[in-house]
Amino acid sequence: MPKDTLTITDNRTGKTYEVPIENGCIRTHALRQIKVGDDDFGLMGYDPAFLNTANCRSAITFIDGDKGILEYRGYPIEQLAEKSSFLEVAYLLLNGELPTPKELEKFIHLVTHHTYVHENIKTFMDGFRYDAHPMSMLASTVAALSGFYPDAKHTKDEHHRRIQITRLIAKMPTLAAFSYRHSMGLPYIYPDNDLSYVANFLAMIRRIGTATYKVHPTLERALDLLFILHADHEQNCSTTSVRTVGSSEVDPYSAVSAGIGALYGPLHGGANEAVLRMLREIGHVSKIPDFIKAVKSGEGEKKLMGFGHRVYKSYDPRAKVIKRVADEVFEVTGKNPLLDIAVELERIALQDEYFVKRKLYPNVDFYSGLIYEAMGFPVEMFPVLFAIPRTVGWCAQWEEMVKDPEQKIARPRQIYVGAQRRDYVPMDKRAAK
Ligand code: ACO
Repeated sequence: MPKDTLTITDNRTGKTYEVPIENGCIRTHALRQIKVGDDDFGLMGYDPAFLNTANCRSAITFIDGDKGILEYRGYPIEQLAEKSSFLEVAYLLLNGELPTPKELEKFIHLVTHHTYVHENIKTFMDGFRYDAHPMSMLASTVAALSGFYPDAKHTKDEHHRRIQITRLIAKMPTLAAFSYRHSMGLPYIYPDNDLSYVANFLAMIRRIGTATYKVHPTLERALDLLFILHADHEQNCSTTSVRTVGSSEVDPYSAVSAGIGALYGPLHGGANEAVLRMLREIGHVSKIPDFIKAVKSGEGEKKLMGFGHRVYKSYDPRAKVIKRVADEVFEVTGKNPLLDIAVELERIALQDEYFVKRKLYPNVDFYSGLIYEAMGFPVEMFPVLFAIPRTVGWCAQWEEMVKDPEQKIARPRQIYVGAQRRDYVPMDKRAAK
């Protein structure tokens, strides 16, 4: 009868250990019993960048990277993208079930009525230079919210947690729009409770001199859909940052602000900005073969931005949906001239042995930047457009972590490879290197 265990023989001592296997995992803490002597700390796992380490049990998002499957609470992303709305998906991610019409109405009402920010936030924003990146403004103002809501420190209290989560989801578009208006030198526009979540955000971005600015329904639906696709993606770099920072029991504004910082990086949420820069650098379809050659040779450490993913080793299911949305958006806005380069780049890369062998396929960022640009957003706003919906995932993951009795303050181990103990050298005895 097969047993769900792993038998390990330590060849240093000849001892054998039996370790339980649960959900395809062993607890690496079980390795600590494997020692060569009493003063031995015990065996550890070494896994830089967590390539093969599960950090938590989660019931929120399922990904099968080989098959290109993404599900929120068991619902396939393709079905949610076609049939749902962003706030409905937000409810699902936070509560585990799709809302009834009444539950959704209440949730939308709650979010809509928490969109305003304290007036001092405007003064805070004014402190930034005219050319500050909107993502750094967003990270700072979200962190600053903890100063405005001291009750946020009650992370063990479900009532308090839910209030902060509502505030975060509701205020994120306001802060994002304010950061954009600041960088453009435009006056801040207050939220409009008569508009949907996405239309309100677009109105706060676009309105100038009139209160009657109308958001095009195709663009409203497209952005709502992009928000659905970006709402959660299990234990990625920013979500892990939110969980890690949140594990110290700090308030969720500080934890989410850390997530925004992680998302700012070009290998994560900054990738769609990098894709557009890359497409501009290529400039013309005829230059693609030279660019691919440079990527393959590692020349200038060039990468094909928007390609490859730590988890997906096939086509990112979100990229497939986005490609379809792109056509609808371009019908309204006119085609982004960089689209031809992107389509041809994808075609060539998907046939090239280098990319095929490494299972490098377009990810969510390959086409999203083209849509955002066609909608009139400057590249600096792209990661901000990612942070708005991902706030839902961060909050759901943060709350799951807070409620998980197995979680403790995150504190990885290290393998020390530095100098051995030595005595302090006085300044006049030190030789220059
Ligand atoms: N272009 C060219 N080569 C690549 C790319 C790329 N975009 N991505 C990976 N590779 C190569 C690596 O050089 C490596 O080659 P090697 O085996 O010869 O050394 C091989 O493919 C495996 O790649 P890893 O670096 O091990 O993959 P990892 O899982 O660490 O990285 C990442 C994933 C960071 C997303 C990477 O693919 C990348 O940098 N892509 C471009 C940036 C990007 O689009 N990021 C967005 C990710 S989606 C998101 O965050 C929302």
